Amino acid sequence: MTKLFLQAINGQKTGKVPFWFMRQAGRYLPEYMALRKDAGSFLDMAYNPDFAVEVTLQPIRRFDMDAAILFSDILTVPHALGQHLEFITGKGPQLDPIRNANDLGRLKFEDDKFHGHLKPVYETVSRLSDELPKDKTLIGFSGAPWTVATYMVEGGSSKDFKYTKSFAAGDPAGFQRLMDLLVASTAEYLIKQADHGAEALQIFDSWSGVLNEVMFQRWVIEPTKRLVEKVKSAHPDIPVIGFPKGAGLMYRNYADQTGITAVAFDQSLPLDFVRDELQSKMCVQGALDNGLLLAGGQPMLDEAARIIDALKGGPFVFNLGHGVIKETPPEHVAELSKFLKSVEL
Ligand code: CP3
Repeated sequence: MTKLFLQAINGQKTGKVPFWFMRQAGRYLPEYMALRKDAGSFLDMAYNPDFAVEVTLQPIRRFDMDAAILFSDILTVPHALGQHLEFITGKGPQLDPIRNANDLGRLKFEDDKFHGHLKPVYETVSRLSDELPKDKTLIGFSGAPWTVATYMVEGGSSKDFKYTKSFAAGDPAGFQRLMDLLVASTAEYLIKQADHGAEALQIFDSWSGVLNEVMFQRWVIEPTKRLVEKVKSAHPDIPVIGFPKGAGLMYRNYADQTGITAVAFDQSLPLDFVRDELQSKMCVQGALDNGLLLAGGQPMLDEAARIIDALKGGPFVFNLGHGVIKETPPEHVAELSKFLKSVEL
């Protein structure tokens, strides 16, 4: 039996709508919050396979999505490279910032140390690959080099990305070294996830949309292309989903040039653009506004129906434009899942 999600991702039109939701595991679920209390911090949970396996499976049990995404974070890579990382409640991730080429000396990419640090993640992937129901797909993931670099350089979340942009523009050769390190280490991380049983990989480029076309080419498209090449040279058949959130018109070049198998879009793209410019070349994944999932009811269902209607002619996976918001009532996720399961294409 070929899995519904994998059929769509690999470019087949399907008779039902495969679906999963970014951040489907997390704080909107009471069963997550209960476990999180025992685990301590978010990172303790992500690095503990018992917790991480359980939390990955929670939304699948409740809502029966077609795919489970590994419970981890994009910032495990800088952490494994030796950058100090903490998640502080209410503030999000905090890292000791790498502001210039000199600071790169604080990072170390040594195989044993790097993979030793990430071993619990690989174990989580192995266990999930055994435990997940056979009709479900296990998705592994990483951040894209640009997005991970923004957290490393800013030292956390940012609204203007001022340090990252001025590093990249003021010392492109130095910034290139950071990107090269991220391409090399992220490729190994994704390859190891695939070795341990991940069946598809998603690359999150959450902040790709803040760059002009020149910087988008250099810091989004080029590194992503190299990353995809490396992963596919080790695992030629593994589907890779690229998610350059907010990339607007640059989605076109991204889809054409990076070598990805499928593209995840966000709700800012007009659906006729998605159909004509992207879905004509590959599977598309997206993109209900997470605010409509928060609202629930008829507006959410109407928008879901509009998306399906626009994209039902080709390969398509239903998802959100960005992760589930923590105040979202689980009943809304149940209502949407029930609706998606009822649709015949
Ligand atoms: O369910 C899933 O989607 C799988 C797990 C997952 C997490 N983070 C768990 C998480 C995935 C795929 C990510 C990706 C991630 N992490 C991204 C890319 C996607 C996006 O959201 O744009 C980014 C930018 C990060 C970095 C990150 N992690 C931030 C900025 C934060 C703080 C913001 C917040 O929501 O608290 C996190 C924390 C985080 N990652 C949580 C979870 C479940 C919340 C942790 C908690 O307090 O329990």
